[in-house]
Amino acid sequence: MATHSTKSTAASNLENIMEFELALEFVRVVEDAAIASAHTMGQGDRHKADQVATETMRDTMEKVPMRGTIVIGEGERDEAPMLYIGEQVGAGWKDGGKLPMVDIAVDPLEGTNLCATGSPGAITVLAASEKGGLLNAPDCYMEKLVVGPQCKGVVDLDAPVAENLKAIARRLTRDVSDLVIVVLERPRHEKLIDEIRTAGARIRLISDGDLSAGIAAAVVGTGVHAVMGSGGAPEGVITAAAMRCLNGEILARLVINTPELEERIKKMGIADKNKIYTSKDLAPGDHLVFAATGVTDGALMKGVRFFGDGTRTSSIVMTRHSGKVRFVESIHLAKRPDVKVRF
Ligand code: FBP
Repeated sequence: MATHSTKSTAASNLENIMEFELALEFVRVVEDAAIASAHTMGQGDRHKADQVATETMRDTMEKVPMRGTIVIGEGERDEAPMLYIGEQVGAGWKDGGKLPMVDIAVDPLEGTNLCATGSPGAITVLAASEKGGLLNAPDCYMEKLVVGPQCKGVVDLDAPVAENLKAIARRLTRDVSDLVIVVLERPRHEKLIDEIRTAGARIRLISDGDLSAGIAAAVVGTGVHAVMGSGGAPEGVITAAAMRCLNGEILARLVINTPELEERIKKMGIADKNKIYTSKDLAPGDHLVFAATGVTDGALMKGVRFFGDGTRTSSIVMTRHSGKVRFVESIHLAKRPDVKVRF
């Protein structure tokens, strides 16, 4: 039987490995993917942008000392050549099996169109946890309501929009008319947009990228107070990992509107299709790591800059248990003897 002290030693080992050693490795993974996709910025080819991000993310991930399993990725094994659900990644699988088992959710390029058109808000992103720490969500839509720490517990996914806005405004000690709510600009959101406008709040319509908008909503000073509407469920799980690190909240419900999806969630063991998930339901892990790098400029991170002597990247890496939020500015030097580093 494990004694209390051996248990806590194991826990603190996991914390050290996941939250300190692997966190920096994951920064390298998202940085490399961001640099690769940034080379395609503005070329109008979203598939190419996604492909190079995916290939590069996978290549760098293979060098990470872990036994990783993709739980959210580029799709099922038969539809994605790499980073598919269930794929084993990391150097640890070939290496005697002593390295930690890690579940990983990836979005190699969040905002493929944003990158292809050179618009703000494209990021490369992943979340990781100990085994079982990230919900294996189906690739369908998810209704989402994302708020920051001050508004946790006062919003309700099923409440009328006007009520949620009032609750958010009260918690942020301002008027509803001062709020900025981010919504994906989609025909399915016409009613939601009308309701927000009628309630008097301001809206920032985005063409893509509800994941980075969600992170912005949980950071004071970004000028985003909530994200509302439906977007990808995989992005929702990765957002939840970020919320757990930032103490924000995502409330979410899968949109199960076809017999095929009904069948799929049944197979996945999801019994209640109407369940409202919290951040903790979506990302229940204790040792969660979230890492993202800007591809194009965004609220929290600058996009990749190529400057002749090298490349500059701007990333965020957060670890839940140890409570760290790190903004990482990296310079990747060109391999020449005369390179200069500028501040
Ligand atoms: P991609 O990066 O895969 O293009 O997804 C971007 C995105 O806008 C997400 O941020 C969002 O959750 C989802 O697509 C919305 O899906 P749709 O474009 O079908 O409304």
